[in-house]
Amino acid sequence: MASEEKPLVVVTCTAPVNIAVIKYWGKRDEDLVLPINSSLSVTLHQDQLKTTTTAAISKDFTEDRIWLNGREEDVGQPRLQACLREIRRLARKRRSTGDEDPPPLSLSYKVHIASVNNFPTAAGLASSAAGHACLAYTLARVYGVDSDLSEAARRGSGSACRSLYGGFVEWQMGERADGKDSVARQVAPESHWPELRVLILVVSAERKPMGSTAGMQTSVETSPLLRFRAEAVVPGRMVEMTHCVRERDFQGFGRLTMKDSNQFHATCLDTFPPISYLSDISRRIIRLVHCFNAHHGQTKVAYTFDAGPNAVVFTLDDTVPEFVAAVRHCFPPESNGDKSQPWGRVHGCAA
Ligand code: DP6
Repeated sequence: MASEEKPLVVVTCTAPVNIAVIKYWGKRDEDLVLPINSSLSVTLHQDQLKTTTTAAISKDFTEDRIWLNGREEDVGQPRLQACLREIRRLARKRRSTGDEDPPPLSLSYKVHIASVNNFPTAAGLASSAAGHACLAYTLARVYGVDSDLSEAARRGSGSACRSLYGGFVEWQMGERADGKDSVARQVAPESHWPELRVLILVVSAERKPMGSTAGMQTSVETSPLLRFRAEAVVPGRMVEMTHCVRERDFQGFGRLTMKDSNQFHATCLDTFPPISYLSDISRRIIRLVHCFNAHHGQTKVAYTFDAGPNAVVFTLDDTVPEFVAAVRHCFPPESNGDKSQPWGRVHGCAA
């Protein structure tokens, strides 16, 4: 039976979380999701954190539908529609260039999508990146698209384009107005730095009060520091960070990661009205990391925070036991939240 005639096609894919060590914050084009600076991230192993998405297309479906973590959501969300449109455009383009035999399934088929995260959504744990990368990738598979998916993922959520690759990934901001050169590229594969570890210190698994999209828009409108950062700071940091990654220089990598996180949060405070994602506990973690490093006379651990209070800590495998002991000492289990809630504790995962 030609694929065109199949009554139902179902595809399931997973996508990882990525943690930016040079942060993306601010768009130059809201609609196309084009950033004001390049960014660089580390993709986490999928053993601990991942999104799983199943997409089904059928001639019997009468409308597109989507379920997130078991609940049906509005399929008309503009970001979701932009991703769907882009994938269907790529599928049409592929068909019209005639390099497909047999031709892909009818593009008129409606899609049903179900996506689940195995970690809290919208708690500053980069769930949107994994979610939109997974959506773009799964839709591409179900509609038979195999071209670059940066744009489709980016149109869902900017940072999602970096979750399309493993290892160390840069999102080049690009210069073109149409965004064709705003793409994600792997800087080094996942096998490059096997000793690198990531600890996620969950301070709060609640939804963040101000989402990244609205937050960065206000920052672009009001923060002179953000403009300075994008133009005068990030270009040099991208070069430096790429070098640290290639050389597996943890000292340089860790210092720059912390500085970039701090500058990102400084731009949030420079936003008007100000945005503060860090909590008192986040600041205690920052102090703990600096004390730990001062005690060792070198950068052994490095924190970074996204749009929420949870800390992501990078270190090398031989430092994990000692640092986890230090965290347990400063945040003893009895004062460390509800024990029945698996996210009240420190979680480790291999990068
Ligand atoms: C602080 O990619 O979530 O995590 O493009 O508006 O969806 P939208 O924003 P999003 O922003 C992520 C911001 C960040 C830094 C980063 O991941 O680079």
